[in-house]
Amino acid sequence: MDTKTQPQRNTTFKNEIFEGLSSFPKHLSSKYFYDKKGDKLFQDIMAMPEYYLTGCEFEIISKNTVAIGELFRDKEKGLDLIELGAGDGKKTKVLLKYMTENNFNFTYKPIDISENAVEMLSKNLAHEMPTLNVEAEIGEYFEVLERLKGFNKRKKVIMVLGSNIGNLKHPKAIEFLTKLQDAMLPEDMLFMGFDQKKDPQTILNAYNDETGITEAFNRNILTRINREFRADFEVEKFRHWEAYNPETGTAKSFLVATEAMKVSIEKLQLTVSFDQWESIHTEISQKYDDKIVSWLAEESGLRIETSFTDEKEFYKNYAFTKA
Ligand SMILES: C[S@@+](CC[C@H](N)C(=O)[O-])C[C@H]1O[C@@H](n2cnc3c(N)ncnc32)[C@H](O)[C@@H]1O
Repeated sequence: MDTKTQPQRNTTFKNEIFEGLSSFPKHLSSKYFYDKKGDKLFQDIMAMPEYYLTGCEFEIISKNTVAIGELFRDKEKGLDLIELGAGDGKKTKVLLKYMTENNFNFTYKPIDISENAVEMLSKNLAHEMPTLNVEAEIGEYFEVLERLKGFNKRKKVIMVLGSNIGNLKHPKAIEFLTKLQDAMLPEDMLFMGFDQKKDPQTILNAYNDETGITEAFNRNILTRINREFRADFEVEKFRHWEAYNPETGTAKSFLVATEAMKVSIEKLQLTVSFDQWESIHTEISQKYDDKIVSWLAEESGLRIETSFTDEKEFYKNYAFTKA
């Protein structure tokens, strides 16, 4: 497991908090939701009936395991299966099981920014699939992209599930996809999940449950800043707010200050003032359709080979190659 870049990551986190909370309007990156508590809360979100994304992608992978697995297969030299933002690997395990049981020669390389997620997944796989060759790594998407080029001795399949791409605005998504494309050879494949546009109410409900799990997940970023940077956010004074714009297909999460306050962040030597009802933008969850995905692919030098959807057509997984 790579922990060498940990100090660098802490510095990036520090700089991004400073920049985001000193800006107007204020913002923080959703990639910082995921510490031990955030990972657990995200697992609770995935288990909520409103959060349809996980069930849909699980259905797609379970019903098409053979077709997807065989798209990945390389009979001669085997392959490297690299997953970015792997989380707890719940859906990936369906494919890993098929691949191990059907004599695939492969290494599974999950990469995630959350140290806890990487540790848990590695332990879990060692227990559940002891013969699987796993090379897990802690890393940030854009940090690891350059190194992906080094996987050039045999086929590589890059996988991004959970519509993680939706956390990036379109220009950043194109930058991400272009860098992935640049790291790919003609035989390589990119397999990626994209949550689709649908009834706006269904989308809103997925990020706005009444039990308050999503609110706890959103507020956890402030709890994390309190702990890691000695800040004094009173997290219960921030309300979770979700908005979905059907025109752009963008769902946005905010934390809204319910009263005016000052927050001190000791390790940043920063005091942040909030007016009453001022917001911090914390996450975007972009929704797509075939036209948008085709446009993203074209802009990034990728070709859509095939796609898979669930019964309700809420979600799609696309397989791309280099155009
Ligand atoms: C929405 S969860 C999805 C997890 C998994 N792919 C799934 O479908 O269940 C996002 C995962 O990506 C990781 N992540 C988020 N932003 C990241 C980034 N910039 N670089 C690497 N990992 C990231 C998080 O730690 C988390 O485990």
